[in-house]
Amino acid sequence: MQHFDVIIIGAGGAGLMCAIEAGRRGRRVLLLDHAKKPAEKIRISGGGRCNFTNLHASPKNFLSQNPHFCISALKRYTQQDFIAKVKAHGIAYHEKTLGQLFCDGSSQQIIDMLIGEARQAGAELRLGEEVTGIEKSADGFRLAFGQTPLSCASLVIASGGKSIPKMGATGFGYEIARKFGLNIVPTRAGLVPLTFKPELLSRLKELAGVAQDAAVSCGKTSFKEALLFTHRGLSGPAILQISSYWREGEEIAVNLVPGRDLLSELKAARQAQPKQELRTALSQILPKRLAEKLCELHGFDGRLADLSDKYLARAAQSLTDWRILPNGTEGYRTAEVTLGGVDTDGLSSRTMEAREVPGLYFIGEVVDVTGHLGGFNFQWAWSSGHAAGQYV
Ligand code: FDA
Repeated sequence: MQHFDVIIIGAGGAGLMCAIEAGRRGRRVLLLDHAKKPAEKIRISGGGRCNFTNLHASPKNFLSQNPHFCISALKRYTQQDFIAKVKAHGIAYHEKTLGQLFCDGSSQQIIDMLIGEARQAGAELRLGEEVTGIEKSADGFRLAFGQTPLSCASLVIASGGKSIPKMGATGFGYEIARKFGLNIVPTRAGLVPLTFKPELLSRLKELAGVAQDAAVSCGKTSFKEALLFTHRGLSGPAILQISSYWREGEEIAVNLVPGRDLLSELKAARQAQPKQELRTALSQILPKRLAEKLCELHGFDGRLADLSDKYLARAAQSLTDWRILPNGTEGYRTAEVTLGGVDTDGLSSRTMEAREVPGLYFIGEVVDVTGHLGGFNFQWAWSSGHAAGQYV
């Protein structure tokens, strides 16, 4: 039996951060991951450049059954703290849009930084092997792991969510939580493309690749970012954002010309160029393929001079309040995150420790805290990992 003060399962962003902090406190730390390489999600994130945080990160950017849970950890380790770390390592970065910070080079720089700091703090990293059993003992936990069983005083579950199963994502963390009596808020795919019903798809699939800035709403929530037509339905930042709020059976409302008074513009066009076709007028406002397809879809046709105010109003409404009933999402296969997870009611927001199971901690995506698109999910990984790292 090999003993450690702290064993962390999952060498992603949250686990690495926790290892660094605990190691710096002089704790003997072992970081385990069943994957052959650590932090694979950091590597693929942000199109290979890792959107590692957001300048505007605040608790408002997170979804959870308890929206207050994330406040404490986010306050004690902020985006500025992580930016300072990135700067200290000389990693060049830039703001892409909306406060989203990306590496100029590659996301591997963030991985190297975290692994380097974890090693410097004395943490040991073991990869490519599964933990096959976890039991509570009088003074901590015993883990079945390869040939040598392990024991620890503090056990940290940092095994992430279910998204991208191809990369080894499993429901492991939820199983451990259940085993120790914690509740799981039902999980579902978040930050994920939406799919069209077959009939709409057959009419719109030629639009795959067309992008347009749009405001997309579901209930009272709305995001104004780019929207992208795909071979299956809709994607792009605006859709990924709203997908985390969308529930099966609900409509989304798409405004393809946010911030513009489309009806007034169409009336002005009718005045200036009465012989112009409606689809031509719309092609000056939207990408041509999109304008033509939407006219076809909604059955709009004719020269502006022949169209009444009422007709133009209907045309304008179909573009500013286009109601779509998605068929579903693309699921965990392409989702960036998993919504739901370990119920925060069972955890301390200060330490991330399970209230009823001393020594057991949950951090990162496995917890029912999910960020918007834009670097917020990594900020939660850093902040929650940092929080637990002070107490394990
Ligand atoms: P994470 O999933 O990173 O790590 C969990 C680790 O646990 C993995 O290494 C896994 O192998 C390991 N593990 C799982 N089960 C195990 C088991 N049974 N035994 C041992 N180890 C186990 N966010 C963001 O803020 N900015 C961005 O740019 C992006 N981009 C992005 C792109 C794509 C394609 C995806 C899928 C996701 C993103 N995200 C993102 C989301 C972000 O990657 C995610 O929220 C964090 O990686 C979560 O960090 P964790 O450390 O909690 O889990």
